[in-house]
Amino acid sequence: MSFESCLVRQLLGRCKMQSQHETSMRRARKVCILSGGGDAPGVNAVLRGFVHAARELSIEVYGSRYGFEGLLSPSGISPFTLENVRGVLPKGGSVLGCSTSVNPFFMMNESKTETRDAGPVVVDRLRSLEMDALVLIGGDGTMVAAQRFVKLGMPCIGIPKTIDNDLGETDVTCGFDTAVEAATHALDALHSTAESHARVLLLEVMGRNAGWIALYAGIAGGADVVLIPELPYDLARVAAKIRQREALGRRFSIIVVAEGAHPMGGDVLEIEAARPGHLPRLGGAGSRLMHDLEELHLGHELRLTVLGLLQRGGSPTAADRILGSRMGARAAELCHRGVFDVMLSWRGGSLTTIPLTREKFLHKEVAPTNETVAAARLLGIELGVEALP
Ligand code: F6P
Repeated sequence: MSFESCLVRQLLGRCKMQSQHETSMRRARKVCILSGGGDAPGVNAVLRGFVHAARELSIEVYGSRYGFEGLLSPSGISPFTLENVRGVLPKGGSVLGCSTSVNPFFMMNESKTETRDAGPVVVDRLRSLEMDALVLIGGDGTMVAAQRFVKLGMPCIGIPKTIDNDLGETDVTCGFDTAVEAATHALDALHSTAESHARVLLLEVMGRNAGWIALYAGIAGGADVVLIPELPYDLARVAAKIRQREALGRRFSIIVVAEGAHPMGGDVLEIEAARPGHLPRLGGAGSRLMHDLEELHLGHELRLTVLGLLQRGGSPTAADRILGSRMGARAAELCHRGVFDVMLSWRGGSLTTIPLTREKFLHKEVAPTNETVAAARLLGIELGVEALP
């Protein structure tokens, strides 16, 4: 037995603590893993961590290519080995591929009018391939799919990843840290040019209906205004902040606007509507804000930068690599112990699990009473709303 195997076995021996909901089933010997939804930096660390730990624990790993697509295509499931995960830690994306276009529980027909549930077909296929479990790396959409697979009798483990950090039941998701880093670098770059030209620069960041990326990057990048979906903004307050800075001799301002941010009484802007099993695509919040500010003739040139997928691609931060590696390794360990139908969750600085069977996956938004919101206010960041009493 190798030194590493010895160490893993010792660790597993010590790891006797089991959460109440963790009931052991038959240990898995053959497992299929996939990365569902959009990619996120750190997914490769999860995959690598899973494959390495699975090898130590004598679990055979198969990968489904392009998320759920692979589960439905004849050659979409293939062995996923150490060879596939060599040198992937610094790489963004997912070496297994991701897809947001296929949800097995809502398959569009040819004329795109009706959807069909292909869940049972997928489970039959996984069973015919003698897969003992399905490991799904993903956000809320993927976790809802995991719940459905569990209902169909397929043992599942969920691993939370999304740059948006909007998945409930976990403090943080894999990919969030890198997205915040990317947005922060963008703000650093915008600062110098904003100052040189005495301009008001807007940065639109992702996050769907949650303002985590905007809030965290806004603080890290020293933004003057941060607008998040959870706090519909008053345009007058944004304008007042710019004027106030001008009066103090600060002739430029930096505004971070989340893609889901909207003025009081206004809508979240979509560029593609939702359809069964798929979320809408958001966009336009930055240009709406710029247009509205231009109408106020503040005496500054305004420019908008939409950061887009630059915050999702690229090399993961060390924090995401470590989180991903730990999650991947833990998922393999759960397979070894026969603990299924759980999602990994990062709580208070360590990994735990929560039942996947929980009725609803809570959407994790930035609560107005959140301590980070309070800190942002104390730092002088305008959030577009009056402070809560
Ligand atoms: O959920 C991750 C995310 O990057 C969101 O922040 C963004 O709204 C969306 O995905 C973009 O999706 P797509 O890659 O389909 O444009």
